[in-house]
Amino acid sequence: MAEIVDRVTADDEGGRIARTLLFPYLNHAANMYGVGYATAADIDAGMRFGCGYPIGPLALIDALGAKTVVDGLNEQFATTGDPLHRPDAALVEAADQGLSFTGGDEAGADVPQVKRPVSSVGVVGTGTMASGIAQVFAQAGYQVVYVGRSQEKLDGVLGYVTKNLDRAVAKGKLDADAKETILGRLTGATEREALADVDLVVEAIAEDLDIKLELFRDLDRICKPGAILATTTSSLSIKACADATSRPADVIGMHFFNPAPVMKLVEVVTTDATDADVDETVRALCLATGKHPVSCGDRAGFIVNALLFPYLNDAIKLQESGAASMEQIDTAMKETKLPMGPFELLDVVGNDVSLAIQETLVGEFGHEGWQPAESLKQVVAEGRLGRKTGAGFHTY
Ligand code: 3HC
Repeated sequence: MAEIVDRVTADDEGGRIARTLLFPYLNHAANMYGVGYATAADIDAGMRFGCGYPIGPLALIDALGAKTVVDGLNEQFATTGDPLHRPDAALVEAADQGLSFTGGDEAGADVPQVKRPVSSVGVVGTGTMASGIAQVFAQAGYQVVYVGRSQEKLDGVLGYVTKNLDRAVAKGKLDADAKETILGRLTGATEREALADVDLVVEAIAEDLDIKLELFRDLDRICKPGAILATTTSSLSIKACADATSRPADVIGMHFFNPAPVMKLVEVVTTDATDADVDETVRALCLATGKHPVSCGDRAGFIVNALLFPYLNDAIKLQESGAASMEQIDTAMKETKLPMGPFELLDVVGNDVSLAIQETLVGEFGHEGWQPAESLKQVVAEGRLGRKTGAGFHTY
């Protein structure tokens, strides 16, 4: 912790880069807490378990001292005039009154219980997220039915899981029998009707509302009464998905992070209509699969993407301004103990995905300062989507 504080406050190039990028992010986290969108514990857990950060933003403000952050933001605001750099009321209050953000609301939280028994899980989709989610449930002992549009796509899911399990076997973390047992829990299907008997469906198909609505209408037709219907959308409305069914009380958001088998976070997103038992069961299931659930409302970006992507976008804009190179920025941020530099992470997430999320956030919050960086649009237009296409901001 002291090391991180030292890096962020250092009077050198790396320290300046870290402050330029981290202070607006901390400001946003303070605002998210101040307006009551999520608890301090959940905001901090979000960034720690969703992005591998060593410390959550509110704990970092406490460690740096709210006054240091307020002073730094005031300096930034004097240069940029960007309203996003004006210290948030919650931050100013903490600085003025010597308040701390952390340590208050974690005690006394009840351990969630499974209220609707779940033994079989359906996963819809065959991309990276769907494959990772299928692995998570199979590894935790659930029977998994995964649904894709072709045998080739289903083979891709099995290939993804097999590769990950082989890596675990090679490292001596899993034995060969356990690998076969896990793979034996996975059943592929090209027809959605295979989901008729599952207790929970998690969909991770294209991030397109019309496509999701069509799926939810179909799940409503196919799934048994009482089945929980979850979407792993990162930016679309859970309520819209719920309203496409005749059972909105059974619909919930379960937002996993990339790579799903590794990142421990699941954002559990409820709407006004979500049944309390569904919410509690899903949070209990997260714990049963080794994940850490955080609760948040049905708003684009939830906790983590709303905090993460504007920071990534700011990193691109800093590079565009000529103030620092990609390498300098990636290095400076890793020196603050983030697991990846922003350009490395953009390439992992996919620049097309990042651009879409950033556009959604601008749509939701309307901040001019969050408009997607020009070079983000450019790499997407050129098909440099990141690791998945062999090139993005970096070349692989
Ligand atoms: N699939 C499965 N397992 C993987 C993996 C993958 N793609 N990549 C790495 N792993 C496993 C490794 O096997 C290893 O497992 P082990 O500890 O059991 O042996 C473990 O993860 C650590 O991997 P490595 O030692 O190879 O590499 P690192 O220490 O560099 O960790 C990382 C890799 C966990 C990905 C780390 O760099 C990290 O935390 N990065 C941040 C990722 C992040 O921020 N994700 C969120 C993106 S936003 C998002 O997903 C939201 C969505 O809406 C877009």
